[in-house]
Amino acid sequence: AIFGPGRRNSKGVNMNVLDQWLPLQAAMASFMDQQWQGAPLVGGKRLQGDSRAVLCPYQRSHQVGEVVWASAEQTHSAVDQLAAAFPAWNATAVDQRASILERTADLLEDNMPELMALCTREAGKSLQDGIDEVREAVDFCRYYALQARQRFALITLPGPTGESNELYLQGRGVFACISPWNFPLAIFLGQVSAALVCGNTVVAKPAEQTSLIAVRCIELMWEAGLPKDVLALLPGDGAQVGSVITSDPRITGVAFTGSTQTAHVINRALAARDAAIAPMVAETGGQNAMLVDSTALPEQVIKDVVHAAFTSAGQRCSALRVLFIQEDIAPRVLELLKGAMAELHIGDPGDRATDVGPVIDSDARDGLLKHVETLKGQGRLIEETPLPDGLDGYFVAPAAFRLDSIRELEREHFGPILHVITWRNNQLDQVIADINATGFGLTLGIHSRNEETARYIDQRVRIGNVYVNRNQIGAVVGVQPFGGMGLSGTGPKAGGPHYLLRFVTERTRTINT
Ligand code: SER
Repeated sequence: AIFGPGRRNSKGVNMNVLDQWLPLQAAMASFMDQQWQGAPLVGGKRLQGDSRAVLCPYQRSHQVGEVVWASAEQTHSAVDQLAAAFPAWNATAVDQRASILERTADLLEDNMPELMALCTREAGKSLQDGIDEVREAVDFCRYYALQARQRFALITLPGPTGESNELYLQGRGVFACISPWNFPLAIFLGQVSAALVCGNTVVAKPAEQTSLIAVRCIELMWEAGLPKDVLALLPGDGAQVGSVITSDPRITGVAFTGSTQTAHVINRALAARDAAIAPMVAETGGQNAMLVDSTALPEQVIKDVVHAAFTSAGQRCSALRVLFIQEDIAPRVLELLKGAMAELHIGDPGDRATDVGPVIDSDARDGLLKHVETLKGQGRLIEETPLPDGLDGYFVAPAAFRLDSIRELEREHFGPILHVITWRNNQLDQVIADINATGFGLTLGIHSRNEETARYIDQRVRIGNVYVNRNQIGAVVGVQPFGGMGLSGTGPKAGGPHYLLRFVTERTRTINT
């Protein structure tokens, strides 16, 4: 049942079927001007403090709401309370914990219009990305509920007559979940639901940019019956709230998605504590490539390149950054690429026609523009889709640049920027070695109609998710378990059958009967 017919993913909504789309659009419209109020949520209460404005990434004069950031003192007392609540939650039947996730999934579906409005207004997500975000969050809840029911079953082991031996799983204690802004609902809830269903109590720290949707999500979990004392939400600054959490000796594990650099900071903070060794589940950066050989179908390649490099404004950790094209096919692929980029619609992410919305904030935009200026200054521009006039927000024009080697990229550029490298017939091994040498290992696309070549590449790359003859984004829960290796993460696959095992401890009980 883990993989088979016992499990179904959420159907979502098809925007091209008007009977499905129009009612959702109408319901969503009533939330587009809403003001949301966010605050630290501890023990079922909203805590007080100074509030700060949350502004919309594509209409900078528009406020989306306000949020109160947690203080260090509030963070300490939240962990006090979560540590006290752990034994009772850990002793709760797994069935009960799983049912709460399943009810949460139903409530997420019921509240899809508001959650999509938050995805768009707070995070600048396109409508399709908003639909996908809610679906993924729903899928995580149902998938981890099912997994927990199966994994937590007691295993009876053989032994000599007169002795009973049992093996079973338990929660670890207080788990910290530190999540990113690019999947402010799906990754946030994926971490939190996995940790909770295993019997851990959870302190969650959402990204600074996207606290409001996290607050709504927790309110829905309460409505689904989650006990108020097992989950605390602490909006705030990573360097402050995050470091108070990760240096607390009572934290027994961390799930983190974000930059490789921040993962190192957290790992060092955990190691410096005079406390039990805490495991870390980290999902970090990438330098994702697509390798195209001369047997590939150029039309299919371009469809996948444009989707993987530019949708979500390139702000997926799985997004395509470096396209390697075999030289014989390069002129045709580049010609098609220019044509496809000219068709991209950039603008208001709440508009159904929009392909590319804003990036998340001014820091993100400024960093990307600096990289763009450098490459333009070196005469490497292949194509840039011009920004339409009159945009008010953090927009970056989708662009493609020529590089000689992936080694020229010192870091990940998290936006709609594609780098293109042409390779010659005898260079395949060098290309594979160069991709591996980045140290990152998140996603790879391969386009080849020669199965042998695809297999050859697949066997030699150190990459967590490899996609052959399709795009490399949008991993589906339970279908493409997702996670990288090397500098891209500690390996556990979100939405995969082994993920929960990183959130538990095992116990063997032997009884002399
Ligand atoms: N899980 C997402 C995807 O596959 C990436 O972050 O696109």
